[in-house]
Amino acid sequence: MNKVETSFLHKNQFGDDFLWGVSTAAFQIEGAHDTDGKGRSIWDVFTSQKGKIKNGHHASIACDFYNSYQNDIDLIRELNIPNFRFSISWPRIMPTGVPPINQAGIAYYNKIIDALLSAGIEPWITLYHWDLPHDLELKGGWTNRESVNWFSAYVEICVQSFGDRVKNWMVINEPSVFTGAGYFLGIHAPGKKGITNYLKAMHHVTLATAAGAKIIRNRIPDAHIGTTFSCTHIEPATQSSKDIEAAKRVDTLLNRTFIEPILGMGYPQGDLPVLKKLNAYIIEDDLNNLSFDFDFIGLQCYTREVVKSSLLIPYIGAELISAEKRNVISTDMGWEVYPPALYEVLKKFNAYNGIKKIIITENGAAFPDTLKNGKVYDIKRTHYIQDHLEQILKAKKEGLNVDGYFVWTLTDNFEWAEGYNARFGLIHVDFDTQQRTIKHSGLWFKDFLS
Ligand code: NOJ
Repeated sequence: MNKVETSFLHKNQFGDDFLWGVSTAAFQIEGAHDTDGKGRSIWDVFTSQKGKIKNGHHASIACDFYNSYQNDIDLIRELNIPNFRFSISWPRIMPTGVPPINQAGIAYYNKIIDALLSAGIEPWITLYHWDLPHDLELKGGWTNRESVNWFSAYVEICVQSFGDRVKNWMVINEPSVFTGAGYFLGIHAPGKKGITNYLKAMHHVTLATAAGAKIIRNRIPDAHIGTTFSCTHIEPATQSSKDIEAAKRVDTLLNRTFIEPILGMGYPQGDLPVLKKLNAYIIEDDLNNLSFDFDFIGLQCYTREVVKSSLLIPYIGAELISAEKRNVISTDMGWEVYPPALYEVLKKFNAYNGIKKIIITENGAAFPDTLKNGKVYDIKRTHYIQDHLEQILKAKKEGLNVDGYFVWTLTDNFEWAEGYNARFGLIHVDFDTQQRTIKHSGLWFKDFLS
C-alpha cells in the first residue's frame, strides 16, 4: 500500500463499531434546480436576488450531483467510506411543499439509494437541510405554525417511499443556524429578520423535529433516528464576571436552545431571558410535544468562539471576537482552527442525561486549494481532520460517548452565502468542467479507512 501520510492514527483505535462517513446536502450539490418537475426552494429564490451570495454565485448546477451521482458514489466507494449522508430536497418531492407528489423526485432518490446500496454504502437521510419549498415561505414558512403539519406530511411521504431500504434518518439539520441566519439576521434564505420571526421559527422547527421523528418511529420500527445540531465551544474573553455571563448567554443561544426542549428540559429561559418571549407562541401541550427519545444526536462542530460582553448587541448583550481580531489561525470561513473544541463539546453534550448516542455528523474545513499537475496537496485540511480525530480519541479514552465521525464534505460544493469560494471537499471540483480530483486529504482518509 502506498501510504500518503504518516500519522499515528489508526482506525482500529476507534473500535469496530465506530461509524465512518461523509456528509452532503441536496441544495449544495444537486443542481438541476428546475429539472423533472422540481419546485423552487427558498434558496433558489434567495440566490437569484442581487447581493445575497458572494460573487453572485448560484446553485442551479452546483456539483451536478443530480446527473453525476453514479460517478460520485463510485468515488465514495473508492475512498472506502462506508456511510453516506445526503438530504432530500423537499421541493423535488413536493414542488409546492404540499401534495401532489412529484413522482420523478421520488424516482431520483430511489436511484441514489439503490446505487448506494449496490455499492455497499449505507444511506443516511437528512429530511430537512434548509431548502424549504418557496410556496410555503409565501405562507410564512417556519414562522407559520402550519409548518409543523406541512413538514409532517412531507416526512410521511419520505418514510413511505424510502423506509424499506433506509434505516438511518436525521430529521432537521442545524436548526440554530438556519433559524438564526435565515429568520433573525436575514443573511441566509429566506432573508427574514427580527426577533419575532426568529422565535416563531425556533418553536415551530422544534415541534416539527419531534413530530417528524415520531412519524419515522411509527412507520419504520427498526429505524435509527437522529437529528443534528451545530455546536461550538464557547469561552469568555476574560475572567471578568461580565464576560463570563456573556459567554453563558451565547452558549445558551448556540448550544442549548434547540437540544434542551428535545430532551424534555424545556427552553433554557433562565439563562437567556429573551427566550421568555417564546411563551407567546407556546400553546396547549406543546411542551410535551417538543421532546423525542432520539437514538442518536448528531453534533456538528467546526470551531470555538471567544465572547465578550457588549451592551450594543440587543437580546444577547454579547459579541464574538473574530479569529482575525484574535490573530489566530483560521479557515476560509474565518473560523479559528481549534481542534480541542470538539473534545469540549463532546464533554458538554455527554453531561446531558438522555442522549443515548453521539455521532459527529459534520466536521471539516475550507481552505484555498490549488490544483497543480492533477493534484491538490491540501495538507492543512488533512491535518485539520487528523487533529480532530485525535480529540475524539481523547474523549473515547476518557469514556465519553462518541460513536461516529462524518467528514464535511465529499466534493467542494455551494457553501451557502459564501458561494463556491469556500472549498470543504475531500474531492476538488473544477466548476467549469465538473472534473473531480481526489485531494490529499481524501487520499489520506481512504488510506486510513482501508
Ligand atoms: C453546516 C451545514 O450543515 C452545512 O450545510 C455547511 O456547508 C457546513 N456546516 C459548513 O459551513
